[in-house]
Amino acid sequence: MPDIVDLLRSRRSVRAYEDRPVAPELLRRLLVAAMAAPSASNSQPWEFVVITRPAILERLRSKLLFARYNAPAAIAVCANLRIAHNSAARHYWVQDCSAATQNILIAAAGLGLGSVWIGVYPLPSVMAPVRQVLALPEDVTPLSLVYVGHPTEHEPPNGHDRYEERRVYWEQYEPRKRRARKKNAKHE
Ligand SMILES: Cc1cc2nc3c(=O)[nH]c(=O)nc-3n(C[C@H](O)[C@H](O)[C@H](O)COP(=O)(O)O)c2cc1C
Repeated sequence: MPDIVDLLRSRRSVRAYEDRPVAPELLRRLLVAAMAAPSASNSQPWEFVVITRPAILERLRSKLLFARYNAPAAIAVCANLRIAHNSAARHYWVQDCSAATQNILIAAAGLGLGSVWIGVYPLPSVMAPVRQVLALPEDVTPLSLVYVGHPTEHEPPNGHDRYEERRVYWEQYEPRKRRARKKNAKHE
């Protein structure tokens, strides 16, 4: 089993997919991963719409400027506060559904699938077409769409490293370090 941190570092947004479907068992594994996410007071305010029909995917693509990729499947991560186990969901549903979204991306990487997070909430211009195409009722709010498929290109195994020591403070924030960062920025 690969080191989990190496897996996270090698994950990339995938925007070009092979022309073959994702097996339903794999889509189900992604949903299991999504619902394993933490949520405030364990409220689990999420619902998911899995889209595999080419006509619906095409309708989404035609209406969403930044989602014109040929993925054979998509999962819409939505919040339905009526089904939340706990009222904390009212305040934390964005974080809860974001955690579920990220779990899908990580699970996809682990299963050898490609994925990309398409932001939906809070932009009304993106939420409205997603609501319409997926026939979402008023009390269901789409947070994200995750495109999933078999990537046409595989990333090099060790991926990129975004770790930056200067972004890290130990124990307390240090204003002096912050100033040094700004000064040095000119030379980078
Ligand atoms: C909230 C959010 C919204 C995003 N929306 C889009 C989007 O609409 N279209 C897209 O192609 N990528 C989208 N992305 C993917 C980011 O562009 C991508 O994660 C970022 O460039 C870093 O690249 P990486 O995922 O390959 O590490 C989104 C990511 C997040 C977290």
